[in-house]
Amino acid sequence: MTPITYELIKTCKQTGARLGKVHTPHGSFDTPMFMPVGTLATVKTMSPEELKEMEARIILSNTYHLWLRPGEDIIKEAGGLHRFMNWDRPILTDSGGFQVFSLSKIREIQEEGVHFRNHISGEKLFLSPEKAMQIQNALGSDIMMAFDECPPYPASFDYMKSSVERTSRWAERCLEAHQNPTTQGLFGIIQGGEYEELRKQSAKDLASLDLPGYAIGGLSVGEPKDIMNRMLEYTTPLMPSTKPRYLMGVGSPDSLIDGSIRGIDMFDCVLPTRIARNGTCMTSTGRLVVRNAKYARDFSPIDENCDCHVCKNYTRAYIRHLIKSKETFGFRLTTYHNLHFLLKLMEQVRTAISEDRLGDFKEAFFEQYGLNQP
Ligand code: GUN
Ligand code: ZN
Repeated sequence: MTPITYELIKTCKQTGARLGKVHTPHGSFDTPMFMPVGTLATVKTMSPEELKEMEARIILSNTYHLWLRPGEDIIKEAGGLHRFMNWDRPILTDSGGFQVFSLSKIREIQEEGVHFRNHISGEKLFLSPEKAMQIQNALGSDIMMAFDECPPYPASFDYMKSSVERTSRWAERCLEAHQNPTTQGLFGIIQGGEYEELRKQSAKDLASLDLPGYAIGGLSVGEPKDIMNRMLEYTTPLMPSTKPRYLMGVGSPDSLIDGSIRGIDMFDCVLPTRIARNGTCMTSTGRLVVRNAKYARDFSPIDENCDCHVCKNYTRAYIRHLIKSKETFGFRLTTYHNLHFLLKLMEQVRTAISEDRLGDFKEAFFEQYGLNQP
């Protein structure tokens, strides 16, 4: 019995993209879906009320960060992560695997787990499949991710092969250690870098565990875009069609559309929230750096074609002034707009799938957005 189920509604006749629904103990969400990132139990600068206003349906949070601060015991005592942060919709937690590898420079990988140093205090730490599960069980997220290794790009075939095999063994240990199988679902993470043979092995190993969902990891780690698309084209057909497919760490508009076309159902990325705090906005005509001097007297909205609360009420000139003055409210406005933009984009993708015209939508979108724009 798994608390996470996937319902396939239809596939786009033009592209093969999937329209579906994922059901969780905290409600359902339509797919393909983008998940805003709330690393430290907050989507930076946004309240849960604002996230609901822009129709965010599921958010992602991080095992690694919440373990270090405030500690999973405090969150458990609060009644779980949903109660702690006042978000009653689905939450997915990443396992900490990726964060250990991306944040800690000093680390040692052993079969048992990974020894590393806290990226802030320098304190010695150890994370293992069992520990990652214990933390995620305490957090009470709807979807937990298996503890994996995400090797850097490029990695040799031999290294990647032993890493994939270890990630498979770790996934098995995660499933074994899982304490709440009726309220939380465990997703496996397919690794294998740019090697088709290893992606196949990884997908096969993990499928044998019959998990309620599968992710593709180890992409968007610096490889060229065509490698990512090639790996997606190769890997998604190897994943069970009855389970959700999640592409980790991807959130540029072009990758969301390209991923959907290749059969991906879920995405997450810090991109929209991170660039927002840097004064960069995603708009229907491409990226707009609202900090630029040319917007000092521009009293138009960030995006003429956006119907978000920010674009209805605030100007480029005002937002530029706030961001340049490092006013918190400026970061809030650009974050709100960017998340709204991506959530709306995914809604348009879903509508296009339902009408068998995602290919046409892609073409029209890029005509405006511009090709080769991240
Ligand atoms: N986030 C982005 N890529 C990855 C990955 O390969 N593994 C995990 N655990 N998280 C990710
Ligand atoms: Zn807007």
